[in-house]
Amino acid sequence: MKTILTSANGAPVADDNNSISVGKRGPLTYDNHYLFEKLAHFNRERLPERVVHARGTGAYGSFVLSKDLSDLTLADFLQDVGKKTRVFVRFSTVGGGQDSSDYARDPRGFAVKFYTEQGNFDLVGNNTPVFFLNDPIKFPDFVHSQKKDPRTNLPNPARMFEFWASHPQSLHQSTILMSDRGIPASLRHMHGFGSHTLSFYNAEGERFWVKWHLKTNQGIQTLTDAEAAQRPAHGAQQDLVEAIDSGDFPSWAVKLQIMPDADAKHYGINPFDLTKVWPHSDYPLVEVGQLELNENVNNYFAETEQAAFAPSNLVPGIGVSPDKMLQGRLLAYQDAHRFRVGANVNNIPVNAPKCPVNHYQRDGAFAGTCPYSNGANQDERVNFYPNDQAEAGSPVPDATVMAPPMPVLEDAWIGYHDQSEEDYYSQAGDLYRLMSESQKQQLIGNIVGGLSQATESVQQRMIAQYQRADEDYGLRIKNAL
Ligand code: HEM
Repeated sequence: MKTILTSANGAPVADDNNSISVGKRGPLTYDNHYLFEKLAHFNRERLPERVVHARGTGAYGSFVLSKDLSDLTLADFLQDVGKKTRVFVRFSTVGGGQDSSDYARDPRGFAVKFYTEQGNFDLVGNNTPVFFLNDPIKFPDFVHSQKKDPRTNLPNPARMFEFWASHPQSLHQSTILMSDRGIPASLRHMHGFGSHTLSFYNAEGERFWVKWHLKTNQGIQTLTDAEAAQRPAHGAQQDLVEAIDSGDFPSWAVKLQIMPDADAKHYGINPFDLTKVWPHSDYPLVEVGQLELNENVNNYFAETEQAAFAPSNLVPGIGVSPDKMLQGRLLAYQDAHRFRVGANVNNIPVNAPKCPVNHYQRDGAFAGTCPYSNGANQDERVNFYPNDQAEAGSPVPDATVMAPPMPVLEDAWIGYHDQSEEDYYSQAGDLYRLMSESQKQQLIGNIVGGLSQATESVQQRMIAQYQRADEDYGLRIKNAL
């Protein structure tokens, strides 16, 4: 049976090759409403691309729990060994636009949406355990400096180093970025990290600080700048789509570092500083499950492009932490989604929770499209709270999922927090000292490639930072320059 072509109102279209015109050589007429619909829709095909992480690739899969965590968290997807939770993962580069190369020297976004029975939990992380910053007020400045030059619209390494020269907090992450790990060979051959410190809380109201790690089962594979330059721009996306299509499903071991609340007060490293790791010798990794990707999207735009991840998408038993960067992100993502996709972004199937959605939010563009909410736009249900209709099924809060109060550190005060005296050097130096001779040579070469294009003042300030991390690190950069 043939499928009849229709216009958007569902009516059959008689001709999709020729517009209605006044004779053979004449102009078009005003009753070309199908032509107008087609052109008008075409004009509106784009969403604004993500301001960062614009270029991405997504796929569905599952998370299977291998360790019951009910002593630590209320989260139901972390209870009962063997429990399976559907996920959607979107990988991305950070700085480039939608059609930039998959092989930039850039962190990779690794965002996981867990569709749990208590709502969606989004782990919106990267392929690195730390970040360039520890205060969100610097994020727009940082991103501006890493993206294209405002005049030439070209990448400009001098601007990147100019930012880093004034921000020693970036040293740890920029050392990772410039190292041999800086360009993953594929999206399957890299680790993922929640990076921030999140938390768990249990039925007793106890809180634990938690860092999430996703360790690739495919092994780490990376590229040098020269190798990356040979790869086609869309190579990493193609690699992932083809691996999944052929049944070669990539997977990651999901591991946690868990810190009891009391430790946070006296641990030598600020556990809420995103520029720092917790050494595994202090807090060993505990494997809790496996994440596998096994299903490609059917439609890239509908699913991957409209996907909206938010660090504020949390479920009972999982909370945030005093990490200042995380606090900034709690606001930024939903705001971005309302701008990029719209107020009812969570009605789109890829974003919609796979559990009942009951609330008093109503209307807005595209209301009533969520397949999992109570009918279109919550149907005829009462639209204010409190109301007298709880017995008839109007939604009420559930105090049993109340998070314990966030502990306030004893020396807390309110004001601008100057972090300039933090130690941003020891962990960068530790990382440098762990590298083999060939890794050190790659690191120095990658840094000098960009730093040599910066001003002398920037070079001097960067050398001073490298030297504070490790004397040899600084000396080699100085000599290479
Ligand atoms: C204050 C700091 C930050 C701000 C203000 C910020 C802001 C944003 C914004 C506005 C987007 C686009 C969201 C969208 O349009 O859907 C985004 C995407 C993203 N960010 Fe951040 N970001 C910050 C830090 C971080 C950090 C530290 C990480 C990782 C540890 C991270 C990982 C990601 C990822 C993976 C995406 C892409 C999500 C997707 O695939 O749709 N961001 N960020």
